[in-house]
Amino acid sequence: MPNSEQILLFPHTAPAIGRRESMTFKANRNLGRHGWLRLTPAYSRHLVEALVGAIGPSDRVLDPFCGTGTTALTCAEKNIRCDTVDINPFLVWLARAKLAFYSPSHIDEARDFGNHLRQPASDRQLWRPPLKDIEKWWDPRDLEALAGLCAVIKEAKITDAARNLLFSAFCRVAIETARVSFNHQSMSFKAASAQWTLANMGTPSNLQRLFARRLGEILEAAAIPLGSNPPTAILGDSRELDKVVSTTYTLFGLWRYFFRELHFSSHLRE
Ligand SMILES: C[S@@+](CC[C@H](N)C(=O)[O-])C[C@H]1O[C@@H](n2cnc3c(N)ncnc32)[C@H](O)[C@@H]1O
Repeated sequence: MPNSEQILLFPHTAPAIGRRESMTFKANRNLGRHGWLRLTPAYSRHLVEALVGAIGPSDRVLDPFCGTGTTALTCAEKNIRCDTVDINPFLVWLARAKLAFYSPSHIDEARDFGNHLRQPASDRQLWRPPLKDIEKWWDPRDLEALAGLCAVIKEAKITDAARNLLFSAFCRVAIETARVSFNHQSMSFKAASAQWTLANMGTPSNLQRLFARRLGEILEAAAIPLGSNPPTAILGDSRELDKVVSTTYTLFGLWRYFFRELHFSSHLRE
């Protein structure tokens, strides 16, 4: 939890934004750690770069709605101090995984695991997410293959850092193989026949091939170190920021009105 006097700076003259792809989550796909998971509501890195462009090294950014961590990751790349909050534990985990330092041995450990992927015993009862109508999301055979991969990553005797890299690749594969289309702000189910099956058990299997490709991309990005000011990703409710941060922020522009609604005014230094 931050405890020194810090600054939250959002310029009151935000750049003009049209419907340019560079200003949406789509632009993040090929940008190293930003592309680890594609989630529709993510900000674009270009947009965050423009917003934090005026921030100096002694300032500190707060993003009270972390999501996939675009703000925090952009700040980390630019060596700007940043704290970020989200109410969703999965997104806090993802942001921490994207912001973490990975040593060469963590990366080798994850790669080695990916090269020796095994399926769990076929008679095992495997965990699946308690999702209503889950068969609409994944073909039952794909779900079986994904549940097996999830179990072996969870049970592997490896460091937490290597496991986080492997789970990042797993989540990417799970999202890519779901029978859903992600549009600008909505999601729809695809026809069942439109999806190829992971359970095609050639050697290597479709699952092994796709997982190896995504893991390789993630490890390549993880090997590039971030700045020396790692941001903090905090699990909390930004409607009660008082309980999450105990510091003073200065707000600029429209954000000050928004933060007053959040009863955050005692933390403002304008
Ligand atoms: C549009 S996303 C933010 C996008 C994010 N900055 C990014 O680039 O990926 C909004 C986020 O706000 C979070 N959120 C919604 N209500 C919240 C609350 N009361 N406290 C903290 N986070 C909240 C959601 O879980 C969601 O991840």
